[in-house]
Order: sequence, then C-alpha cells, then structure tokens
Amino acid sequence: MNTRIWAASALALTLSQSTLAQAPAPSPTPSEVSVSVDVNRPGPVIDRHIYGQFAEHLGHGIYDGIWVGEGSKIPNIRGYRTDVINALKEIKVPVVRWPGGCFGDLYDWRDGIGPRSKRPVRINVHWGGVTEDNSFGTHEFMNFTELLGADAYVSLNVGSMTPLDSARWLEYMTSNEKATLADERRRNGRDKPWTVKFLGIGNETWGCGGNMSGEYAAEVNARYSTFVTAPAEMGMVKVASGATGNGGDYKAFTEAMMKGGGKLQALSFHYYAMPAGGKRGPATGFDESLWTRELDLTRKMETFVSDVSAVMDKYDPDKKVALYVDEWGSWYDQEPGSHPGFLLQQNSLRDAEVAALSLNIFHRHTDRVKMTNIAQMINVLQAMILTDGPKFLRTPTYWVYHMYVPFQEATPLPASVATPAYTSGSFSMPQVDASAARGTDGKLYLSLVNTDPVRSARVTTNLTGTATGRILTGPAMDSHNSFDAPDAVSPKPYSGRSENGRLVFDLPARAVAVVAIP
Ligand code: AHR
Repeated sequence: MNTRIWAASALALTLSQSTLAQAPAPSPTPSEVSVSVDVNRPGPVIDRHIYGQFAEHLGHGIYDGIWVGEGSKIPNIRGYRTDVINALKEIKVPVVRWPGGCFGDLYDWRDGIGPRSKRPVRINVHWGGVTEDNSFGTHEFMNFTELLGADAYVSLNVGSMTPLDSARWLEYMTSNEKATLADERRRNGRDKPWTVKFLGIGNETWGCGGNMSGEYAAEVNARYSTFVTAPAEMGMVKVASGATGNGGDYKAFTEAMMKGGGKLQALSFHYYAMPAGGKRGPATGFDESLWTRELDLTRKMETFVSDVSAVMDKYDPDKKVALYVDEWGSWYDQEPGSHPGFLLQQNSLRDAEVAALSLNIFHRHTDRVKMTNIAQMINVLQAMILTDGPKFLRTPTYWVYHMYVPFQEATPLPASVATPAYTSGSFSMPQVDASAARGTDGKLYLSLVNTDPVRSARVTTNLTGTATGRILTGPAMDSHNSFDAPDAVSPKPYSGRSENGRLVFDLPARAVAVVAIP
C-alpha cells in the first residue's frame, strides 16, 4: 500500500561498482534520502501472526532445539529448553506451525501420543533418513505453544492419510465430551481440550505433499476440509495449501485453489529467497555479489504477494480469504560438515536485512497478508536461534524480530521513500527501505533498512519530535554470532536528531534500525 519513490543515482552506481566483492569500507559521502510518512492514511492492522514461526521435525529444529526431555542436563522447563523458551517469549511469538513441512505428509499422529517409551521409532525419510523416536508429539507441541503463549498451527497429513485420520486427531485434541478419544487424551495427561487456532490442510500439495495438479489439489482441499472440524467456539481457521514462488505457475495454482478449493478461509504461499538451479552459496564468507543477489531475491516477495493477491481478488474482492505466507526465508548451502539433510545454516547481517525487508513488504500488504511463518524457528534455515548441546545463541534475524515487536498489531502508515539506488553488478534496488506504523501504545514506529553494504545514508523525514530506538549493524556483510561470540551482532541504542524541526537519521551502511517517536 505504500508508495515508494526511488531513482537510480549515477554516484551510487559508480561507488558500488568500484567496491564489488570487497570487504566494506567506510563511505565518504552518505547518500541523501527522504522519508515521508502519511499519518492520515492508516492501513489494515499488522496482524501479530505476521510474526509467526515454523518448527518442523527436521535436523535439530525440534530435538535439541526445543525439546531436550525432562532428564536432560540442559536447563529445561518440563523438557523444553529454558534458554529457548525465554528468548522466544521476548519476541512474543504469536503462532507456531508444526509438524511440517514435508515431514507432515508422512506423519501419523498416533505415533506421537501415549508413554514416550512406547512410541514407535520411524525413519524421517525427507530429512536425512534419521530415526524419529516421536518423543515430541501432540502433547509436547500443544503444551509448548501454551508455555510460549502462542497459537497452535497444526498441519495435517493430507498426502498419505485419510480425512478420517485427521478428523480423529482433531477430536483427540479438541473434544470436551465424554468420548473415547477425549478420554484417551485425558489418560495421556491432558484433561482440558487444547485450542487449535489454525489448521493446515496439507503442505506443498504440488510437491512433497502429493505432487498434485492445482485442480486436483483444489478438489482434495474441498473434500478434506469438509471432514476436519473442531468445536465452533474455537474459531479454528482452515488453511488451504497454496502455490510457491520457487518454480511452476504460481498464478495458475492460486487460481485453481480459489476456483475449486471449496469454501476457503485462508490460502498459503511459500517462497524462499534462493536462486533457481541450486547454486545457493554459503551462509557466510560470501562476496558482495551474493549479498546483492540475496536481497534482490528477497524483494521478489513483493511481486509474489501482489500477484497472488490480485488472483485472489478476482474470486474474493472483499478480501475475506486471508493469505498466509507460511514458509519463507533465506536458503543457503548447509554448513560444511553438518548432517546432510539437516538444513543447518549460519545467520548473518545479510539475513537480518532479508528479515527486515520481508517484514516491511508484509506490512505493505496487510489487506491480504494476515500470517507469515519464517522457516524455521531453531537450527534450520533462517533460524532465530542456534543451539549446540548446551550452547545457545540468538541470530541477527532474532534481533530483527526483537526490534520489530512494536509492529505487532500496529496500524501501518504509508511511507514514501525518495532514495538513490544501490546497484551492484546486474542488481539494483532502493538503497533505503522504510516502514512506519502507529503502535498499540500510540507511538509512531519507523523502521529503516540500508541495503548498501558500503554507503551510509542521511535520512531526512517529515516527522517531528524525538526518536529513540535500536540499530543492528556490524563490521562486515557476513557479521554473525558464534557460540564463542554470541553477542557480536546485537542491537545498539540509536536515535534521530532534529534539524530545522524535522527528524533526521544517520543510517550506517548494512543496517536495520527501528525507532519510536512518541
Ligand atoms: O522448510 C523446509 C522445507 O521446505 C519444508 O519441509 C517444505 O515445505 C519446503 O519445501
């Protein structure tokens, strides 16, 4: 919804071309940028679920990442890592999607209930062929969401189980009756029904969820969603599995779902910022060409969301069906030496920019986008947290989520940005991206992202008063946190100054800042 004005500047072009693939050096001349916030044109609220997470049975995403078990030497609350729970509470995780992902379409919920010692051991064929002992199942997940204060988003196995199996799972979780499945749940230690707020009808039905055509997937959704219900007062939202931006005709798939998917409440979309053809590149130790390529790939989300929304508008002009981008984020080569199939990657300042640019895009599309789930919460892809045994660190992406907390449930305000381009090789993008919103506390929040790894910016605004907040930056494009230096990249205090009655910000290169303006 925001208008962004940006123009290529010859100076930006010369500067970036001459510094390609070098470690960033201080910029002699900051570029001149202006940001204008229109406080009189509020948009639809930024649903807190836009700050959602995804946790799949993949690598160390669940085991060691969330769950260590009650007997572990690692400090835990009833089996959940204390450090992880505390850190996730700070970013006010609103929703967690589970158990997959691809894992979900071979998951039998009955494997994950009852005494842990008696649960069957299966092979996780999608992710490394390792054994899955099912010690983290329905009770462990649902109790985890309650411990966090987050909503549960349960993804059903549509690919390889029947609607009846899923209906029974829902009854097990949500029934308050004196009935066989509810009694089994009670015997397994949970008296009260849980609330399943969101229900995924499959995952990636065009791929690992069943290799279906759009038309067939739509029919499956219509049929399946008829049979999977929860008590009406729960207000559960059923989510049809949608298209991907990573290949195939996403508009045709979206159209097929909207046309033949039955009575939809929400439709999902997946997009990972990774190049087609598999040459993903490393998570750290990259040059400027890979910095720029990744940010360019990230920015494509704006087109995908606009295009998918436009198709949805044809069938749903009143925007009653929400769009959930329930998998997104950076996807690089996995860390050398890590287990094949575990998708473990470091997380650097580049990922902080990926997160901030993506969240700003979602803020601009709150008319349709009501939930997103970054992939994935811990130890997998663009994670918030990395762990190794008792070791723990918060990634630069985590810190963006931390700084952006005031945007949850805030009212977005259009921010026009007049900025030179940051250009490198064949890629060109606005040097500065911004998002503004009125927080639930009445303050105006402004986020500023400098995509240029070399050149700082002087950002003049139409805003007045004082502005204080935090900034995330580092000495290199791939600055990151390690278990030896877990706080190398962490937010520092930041403020604007008043010049001729207007707020002005000195924005360093490769930085994300968020300020509050009372
Ligand atoms: O997040 C990793 C995988 O990416 C998920 O399992 C799948 O849905 C997607 O292709």
